Amino acid sequence: MIPGDNPQAPDNIALGEKLFFDGRLSADGTVACSTCHDPARAFTDGKPTSIGINGAVGQRNAMTILNALFCKTQFWDGRAKTLEEQAARPIVNPIEMGQPSMHAAVSRIAAIEEYQQAFRRVFSRPPNARDLVRAIASYERTQVSFDSPFDHFIAGDSHAIDDSAKRGWELFNTKARCNKCHALSENKRDVTTFTDNDFHNIGIGILRHDVVALARQAQQLIKTGGATAIDRAAVGTDFSALGRFLITKKEADIGAFKTPDIRNILVTGPYFHDGSMETLWDVIDHYNKGDGLKDPYLDEDIQPLALTEPEIDDLVAFLASLTSSQYKEQGAKELARQREIAGTNRPQRDTARAFGPKPPRPAPPGP
Ligand code: HEC
Ligand code: HEC
Repeated sequence: MIPGDNPQAPDNIALGEKLFFDGRLSADGTVACSTCHDPARAFTDGKPTSIGINGAVGQRNAMTILNALFCKTQFWDGRAKTLEEQAARPIVNPIEMGQPSMHAAVSRIAAIEEYQQAFRRVFSRPPNARDLVRAIASYERTQVSFDSPFDHFIAGDSHAIDDSAKRGWELFNTKARCNKCHALSENKRDVTTFTDNDFHNIGIGILRHDVVALARQAQQLIKTGGATAIDRAAVGTDFSALGRFLITKKEADIGAFKTPDIRNILVTGPYFHDGSMETLWDVIDHYNKGDGLKDPYLDEDIQPLALTEPEIDDLVAFLASLTSSQYKEQGAKELARQREIAGTNRPQRDTARAFGPKPPRPAPPGP
């Protein structure tokens, strides 16, 4: 979690924090890390997909950096291994912070007297790319977030969550099968960050994008493209829908994305890698019908769940109990907002399919 060559230190963290909130790291001075990772929104931007420099709209939903230090890989497709490696990517992505190179970003920072001094104090040398991303990563590693009603419940306070949320937690680990992926192991209840650190195709965006055709088109890119080309494709083109495939080049990884931490989920919407769903009811309706019609790469653990309406409400209550104390009010407001929307609009609901058999998965196309 904390690499040996970048130990946490107060000066290092303070410098990283300054950089994280500083638009001067971008090509035109307007886009900071915090533009898309706003602490007031649990370090997300509240948009379906992020908007970077010159109003450029990306293909992916901004992930929270809360608890990102626990992630085995970074990004929806895991294309960066460490927070240090991750931090350089948006700086030079043409539709995020738009710097032509890390060198250009460093020159910009090096021209500012207080950064000159800060880098000398922390690293005993002038600003450079390696130290810059190390400082940012150190700051990010301070951003942990637990202390939710659910954590108090697990710690022994049986009144911390209501009966509906308790039933939701049971369903999460049984009938609703969420623990197949949102747990370190499906055999033991996991109360940490609700992820298996793995990648799955759960059927998001498959109908909107013809992923089979896209994968064919992407062949050249993944054969010859380096990390920079892959990053640009993932954030800025339709190839984004291919997910983990762009990195592993394995057909089975087409449309697979990282199982995200679901803590503070009420504050980090809209949902999924493309921000395509607005409410937690939509998310559960999606799983309930076992979505994936026309998806040859659908994960085998996605199947109709036959959850009733009260059971769906219980799962939402459980998810809502994962809101950390600092976001309590926002979470309550958002839950009320989503409940109102879901009262009249449930675009993902398909009760007949939810209670029907598991449909056959279409065969992957031949070579
Ligand atoms: C224009 C919006 C935007 C800016 C600016 C931006 N990010 Fe992001 N960030 C995103 C999006 C979108 C993703 C998901 C992208 C993907 O998976 O392809 C992401 C993903 C991440 C992740 C991965 C989290 C995880 O759980 O895997 C981290 C960490 C992160 N950003 C940190 C940063 C840092 C540090 C900066 C500044 C150097 C920054 N971001 C600038 C939008 C942005
Ligand atoms: C087969 C593995 C798997 C199962 C089973 C599963 N999930 Fe997920 N979950 C994922 C993956 C992978 C993503 C990200 C997918 C994407 O964006 O394309 C995700 C995303 C989510 C999100 C959106 C997170 C965000 O930040 O946008 C929520 C909420 C969620 N899952 C809750 C649940 C619940 C509740 C259940 C049980 C009903 C469940 N999941 C079952 C793998 C799974």
